[in-house]
Amino acid sequence: MRKRPLNVLIFLGSPREDGNSTRLAFAFADAASRNGHAVQSLRLSALEFAPCDGCGDCWPTAARPCVLRDDLEAVYPLLRKADVLVFATPLHFYAWSTPLKKLTDRLYCLSPQFKRNLKGKTSVLLAAAADDRPAAFAGLKATYRLVADYMGWKRLGEVLVGGLDAPDAVSRNGRALARADALGARLA
Ligand SMILES: Cc1cc2nc3c(=O)[nH]c(=O)nc-3n(C[C@H](O)[C@H](O)[C@H](O)COP(=O)(O)O)c2cc1C
Repeated sequence: MRKRPLNVLIFLGSPREDGNSTRLAFAFADAASRNGHAVQSLRLSALEFAPCDGCGDCWPTAARPCVLRDDLEAVYPLLRKADVLVFATPLHFYAWSTPLKKLTDRLYCLSPQFKRNLKGKTSVLLAAAADDRPAAFAGLKATYRLVADYMGWKRLGEVLVGGLDAPDAVSRNGRALARADALGARLA
């Protein structure tokens, strides 16, 4: 019997509309959709939300993870429903992009210290950078792995592609897109 389709939630962290990390994300998404999974992508730069202010008033009511009233109110239920969380980002100053940093800080209210959390989800990191040295991704990779382990997420894999500068550069790198596709296809 076929297992139920997975809910895949993709966060597009680039300020570029159709840039390299987004193209990696769409390759991943195409493969996941081919396998019958439900994929939703959210462009973080299109959402208006504040950074975490560290108030510590998480879960002011049973229905609301965060006291801040902004676009993330609608995203929290999607996060909780998702089976797979995909983070797609450009490398910005050797870290993930500001919108993605802002998002992850706002996941504090769903961390394992709270009864309602995101434990047990599967996560994926997709990233694009201009620098073509593998070491360029060291900080991002370490951050992602620490965050995933802290949050209790399984790590399905990472596709980290250097040597990309122009927004469409990855489209001339069939191997990189194939790696993102292959990772998406692992969601059997
Ligand atoms: C503000 C900013 C900071 C960047 N910092 C880095 C960096 O630290 N290392 C690097 O290799 N590339 C850096 N880049 C280049 C981007 O990572 C690269 O162009 C990437 O392909 C962009 O992905 P995107 O098209 O998904 O936005 C930076 C670009 C910008 C705009």
